Amino acid sequence: MNFELAINMAMTLDGKVARPDGKWYGLSSRDDKKRMDVYRSSADALILGKNSLINDDPVIKLRYIDGKDPLPVILIRKGIVKKDRKVFSNPNVRPLVICLNENEMAVKEELSEVAEILALEGNNIQPQEVISILKSRNLNRVLLEGGPTLNYTFQNADLIDVIYLTIVPFLIGKKTLPSIVDGDSEFFHFAEKRWNLTHCEKIGDEVFLRYEKV
Ligand SMILES: NC(=O)c1ccc[n+]([C@@H]2O[C@H](COP(=O)([O-])OP(=O)(O)OC[C@H]3O[C@@H](n4cnc5c(N)ncnc54)[C@H](OP(=O)(O)O)[C@@H]3O)[C@@H](O)[C@H]2O)c1
Repeated sequence: MNFELAINMAMTLDGKVARPDGKWYGLSSRDDKKRMDVYRSSADALILGKNSLINDDPVIKLRYIDGKDPLPVILIRKGIVKKDRKVFSNPNVRPLVICLNENEMAVKEELSEVAEILALEGNNIQPQEVISILKSRNLNRVLLEGGPTLNYTFQNADLIDVIYLTIVPFLIGKKTLPSIVDGDSEFFHFAEKRWNLTHCEKIGDEVFLRYEKV
């Protein structure tokens, strides 16, 4: 089976994916949450950023449709994430936490009861290495649900195949807020890397888009 990595994000009309307080809540409708469950139900794994877990504490378990929950994969390069996050309370799935040798002890102390922990060598969690680990476990359909820092890292390594994007009917306005990808420099040859729109659907005041890498 071919491997596929898909970003799954919602953004406002002005392209923001977080409120001024750094969180995303109250701006996505029930339709968006349902749609998210549809994408999640066909995914084997779901990669989550540390800040998103700390700030938003998202519910990862399918709520609106029946199906199998994807395996949450959490990347923690420094420090820990507390075990009180909702992602660790699903009795059906034991998340995989990928950390570094440097923080392995602390991560194990906090999370070994609730997650499988895999420590990598070096001083960064390389996205290619994460993908190799997932492929080696036959986890071939993978969602990347942000945040923008993590999305940027994977796209900077040219690893994103698909983008699921929901446009929500709000304007926030503040210029420093992130978009779906947020990094220090532009992507290499960005103008030569187009995305094909393969699906576009309006439900209420939201638009659901699917783009595929050309
Ligand atoms: N609108 C939406 O659909 C949506 C979806 C998700 C999130 N969000 C918003 O995005 C906000 C958080 O986004 P964020 O960009 O600040 O953080 P993030 O992408 O959730 O997490 C980034 C952190 O992950 C850790 N990390 C581990 N391995 C990494 C790697 N290889 N490359 C980069 N980071 C790695 C780093 O922390 P350490 O170095 O400390 O380990 C890094 O600071 C949330 O609070 C939420 O409001 C919105």
